[in-house]
Amino acid sequence: MMDYLCLKIMQKVITRMVMVMAVFSLMLSACRKEEPEEEKPPFSPTPFELVRPDGFPAPIEPADNPTTVEGVALGRKLFYETLLSANNTQSCGSCHNQALGFSDNGNKFSTGIDGIQGTRNAQGLVNLAFNLRFFWDGRAESLEKQALEPIPNPIEMHQRWPDAVAKLKNAKNYKNEFYAAFGTYEFDSLHVAKALAQFMRTMVSYNSRLDKRLRYELNLTPQEMNGFSIYITERGDCFHCHNIDGGRLLTDNQFHNNGLDSVFADLGLGAITGNVFDNGKFLTPSLRNVALTAPYMHDGRFATLEEVVEHYNSGGKPSATVDPLMKHVGTGLNLSAQDKADLVAFLKTFTDSTFITNPAFASPF
Ligand code: HEC
Ligand code: HEC
Repeated sequence: MMDYLCLKIMQKVITRMVMVMAVFSLMLSACRKEEPEEEKPPFSPTPFELVRPDGFPAPIEPADNPTTVEGVALGRKLFYETLLSANNTQSCGSCHNQALGFSDNGNKFSTGIDGIQGTRNAQGLVNLAFNLRFFWDGRAESLEKQALEPIPNPIEMHQRWPDAVAKLKNAKNYKNEFYAAFGTYEFDSLHVAKALAQFMRTMVSYNSRLDKRLRYELNLTPQEMNGFSIYITERGDCFHCHNIDGGRLLTDNQFHNNGLDSVFADLGLGAITGNVFDNGKFLTPSLRNVALTAPYMHDGRFATLEEVVEHYNSGGKPSATVDPLMKHVGTGLNLSAQDKADLVAFLKTFTDSTFITNPAFASPF
């Protein structure tokens, strides 16, 4: 009898509690309705540590775009995303092919979606995290700024940014992926550029045969070693601009006129600064994977490495801005046929087969 009474009382208490809770949660939900915000999942991106191989400088990461696992994964998808071009046919990867050191498939000039060609050769993309300027004329001072260019560019992907962003917002999953990377569903062109920049910063090459030689992991052949010696001594003088010691980047990140022309069809840096003393100067390209990135120079004028070496062996052409480090204008380097072949053999040791086959840089589609 007592037990029965107890049970009844407890039942009443519980019913009351349930009612109170129901009223409470109704009030709560009423309150919530006043806030327009929908319920958002937690935002906690995972930091991504960029590699810093032996002998390399510190990677450059802007404070407002820290590299994260989510940002890199999103950037990789966007790099291979054809929705970013107006007719959905072209992605960054169309002109930057991993198998060829992210250069444009042997093309002298790249062809955009409207069949129009530019006047510059597409660089290979490598070790961009360590560079201070981008494009041949250095007009972009960060990867984020660089990444804003190709999509609206009329001779490349030719799509207005608002249209590109709208297409991504309608596509499956991108909303969630932008949220995971940047904590917002209302993403715009700057978020796209940030994600692309994060991905491109991870594209680090440090396992070429040259790197392995510098780490004493293997020996180069006598022929390659003679090429090495020409490269790093006054015989060839390549190292002043394509540095090995100053960070193993094979570029000094500076602008030079390497004596290609006496009259400039493309002013290079001069067109950006408006300073005549900059005419004919271009950013020294990294020579990493150079055996894969033909043709060569800003206008793709040389089809082979042999032609490039012949250019330097000739001493280059005189002009008002030719670099003082081009010390043999008019006289030439006077390399023997064997020396020239050895220098080419050495340039081929810059190919990094792990970089061009790394699945982390390949298309996720
Ligand atoms: C139609 C071909 C084409 C497409 C598509 C393209 N690029 Fe390029 N890219 C080029 C060319 C050509 C250059 C050299 C332009 C110059 O220096 O003026 C270049 C240069 C670059 C550079 C500068 C590299 C350096 O060392 O300074 C980066 C980085 C780059 N592209 C990334 C991208 C990204 C990211 C995308 C996609 C959003 C993209 N590209 C789409 C052709 C293309
Ligand atoms: C004065 C600085 C300087 C010196 C010295 C120099 N280079 Fe260059 N190199 C450059 C610049 C700048 C470019 C790009 C020029 C352009 O396209 O207008 C370049 C381009 C190249 C390219 C083409 C790369 C590409 O992706 O298109 C190769 C290969 C190259 N140099 C190899 C060499 C070799 C080998 C030597 C030594 C024999 C050498 N360089 C000496 C500054 C230099």
